[in-house]
Amino acid sequence: MDLDAFRWLLTDDGQRLLAAAGEELRSAGDDSLAVQTRLRRTADPTHVATALTQATLRVRARAKFADLADRMYFTSEGLEQATRLRVAEHRAARLVASSAHTLIDLGCGIGGDLVAASRAGLTCAGVDLDPVRVEVARANIDALGLAGAVEVADATTIDPSPFDVAFADPARRSARGRSFDVDDWTPPWSFVERLLTGDACVKVAPGIPHGLVPRTVEAEWVSDHGEVKEAALWSGRLATTVRRATVIAETGLATLTDEDAPPLGTGGVEVRPVGEYLYEPDGAVIRAGLVTAVAAGVGGGLVDEHIAYVTSDESFRTPFARGYRVLEELPYREKQLRAALRERNVGRLTIKKRGVDVVPEELRKRLTLRGAEEATIVLTRVAGSGVALLVQPF
Ligand SMILES: C[S@@+](CC[C@H](N)C(=O)[O-])C[C@H]1O[C@@H](n2cnc3c(N)ncnc32)[C@H](O)[C@@H]1O
Repeated sequence: MDLDAFRWLLTDDGQRLLAAAGEELRSAGDDSLAVQTRLRRTADPTHVATALTQATLRVRARAKFADLADRMYFTSEGLEQATRLRVAEHRAARLVASSAHTLIDLGCGIGGDLVAASRAGLTCAGVDLDPVRVEVARANIDALGLAGAVEVADATTIDPSPFDVAFADPARRSARGRSFDVDDWTPPWSFVERLLTGDACVKVAPGIPHGLVPRTVEAEWVSDHGEVKEAALWSGRLATTVRRATVIAETGLATLTDEDAPPLGTGGVEVRPVGEYLYEPDGAVIRAGLVTAVAAGVGGGLVDEHIAYVTSDESFRTPFARGYRVLEELPYREKQLRAALRERNVGRLTIKKRGVDVVPEELRKRLTLRGAEEATIVLTRVAGSGVALLVQPF
């Protein structure tokens, strides 16, 4: 979508066609070809294409922006790169709690983070290199009745010092696709390092190596409904700990920091034999290196010093891990494992694994199970040897 097409969409005619496209899509389900044909009877094909694309993006955007999506605007790539509302709202709440009042978003895209920050009460300005995204972000601020200014500018030339906080979410795509190399980010890592010498928050890939995080900066890993979505680096007075794991679930939000994590070994959390319960820490906890905090929380230990499974003799409900009751240990070798599962009439098998070289889908196929029962097994390593545990989620 180019700038003219988007500007047309904001006119009265554009808004009418967009509303009609939305209505048609709601009643036609997936049959967008039929919708296109109907709309083309009364409107210009190019305008129909623009309106229909936008209406389709709004439907897709509900996964990230819930009800707000129906009033917002997107580009396909801008939506893909945008922070989901629940995660952006958590960030915005942290910023407000830090007593920040003003924020500059240096590379705001279509405004995912900008919208959340503005809704939380921060006075926001955003810049982006891409004129279409700037126009879209501005339209989003307007459409949601928020305050904020958005301009086309190169973030690397901007002095963030007049603002309480600078935020950046560098694009992690190069011409070759998604990039894990920080030198491919735009704006680049050198810009991020500079920002992190002041009061700033920078969203980064969850796979960021701990060694890259500057010493005085807090790194926070965030998961939403069990999936790790991002890491955020907090600097200056926004940094309140070294490492943090934040877990967002339907029931609310919970957070662990390195102060909750005892050392591994004497006087801290120990490696111990598998007990009655097994806990699989949330990905954010694992990425943050806070597995011993989960062990301490459930009165347990680790099954192996290098593996992120916690075991205990007590059952706890914790937002930071999925809990399983250990029913029995099965043979680890494939032939004997197949026999044991067949004996138990298992047909549907969930395979969890950690620290062992197994591809669950391939193993499941090779096991050729046909029974009526459903089961979960955990394949892992204990004291250097593979083990298979029959478990039941609780
Ligand atoms: C990952 S997106 C930001 C998404 C945004 N946080 C959201 O939730 O919608 C990164 C953005 O940075 C912009 N960008 C890259 N380099 C830039 C630069 N030097 N100056 C300004 N914007 C830049 C890209 O155009 C892109 O829109």
